[in-house]
Amino acid sequence: MQISNNNIACLFDLDGVLVDTAVYHYQAWKALANSLGFDFTKAQNEQLKGVNRMRSLQLILEWGGVQKTAEEQEALATVKNDNYVGMISKMTAAEVLPGSVELLEALRAAGIKIALGSASKNSGLILERTNLAHLFDAIVDGNHVTTSKPDPEVFIKGAELLDTDPSRCIVFEDAQAGVQAAIAGKMKVVGIGEPENLTGADVVVKDLSAITVEEIKALIN
Ligand code: BG6
Ligand code: MG
Repeated sequence: MQISNNNIACLFDLDGVLVDTAVYHYQAWKALANSLGFDFTKAQNEQLKGVNRMRSLQLILEWGGVQKTAEEQEALATVKNDNYVGMISKMTAAEVLPGSVELLEALRAAGIKIALGSASKNSGLILERTNLAHLFDAIVDGNHVTTSKPDPEVFIKGAELLDTDPSRCIVFEDAQAGVQAAIAGKMKVVGIGEPENLTGADVVVKDLSAITVEEIKALIN
């Protein structure tokens, strides 16, 4: 990719960074595991963050010591997703996490391009329900990639769409797999949440209200 400008760009994960959907993923996976006769811990749930649907299911089945055929796995993933979509269909803008809209608007006002970089195939529904869609210059989600974080594909595609060199991109992530993806893509990364779950992030903040455009710009150069 040949880039001839000095732009910087911001790439945002969705679940757990901009909106509080991580809790719905957890509830829907937990219900599925319980229906199969087992449970998993909150610590195990951390490992599912940022990981795509089929890989998440495979991890959960491993934890439960349950073996399923590829066909059965497809059916189980559909059960989970139907339950999850039922939950997110009722979301409102009130579920946007603190500081998200303010930061996205401030970045736009500063002329900084913004892309979504999410593993989710449901990002369109979530952005529409929470009234965030209009704030993005580009959307890359689980419908556009073939690999799951920690592979950097989702962020590399976002950088390409924003015509920005990866070294001038800042990723916002709540998942360890997402931090690893950003690092693999040679990008800066702002971790959202607790430092112990975000090893390798350049800076960790509790949410997007705790970082400014100036602090973000200072991460580049
Ligand atoms: C990520 C979530 O954003 O999207 C994961 O952190 C989830 O928990 C993944 O498994 C895929 O989401 P979906 O909506 O396509 O099942
Ligand atoms: Mg996330």
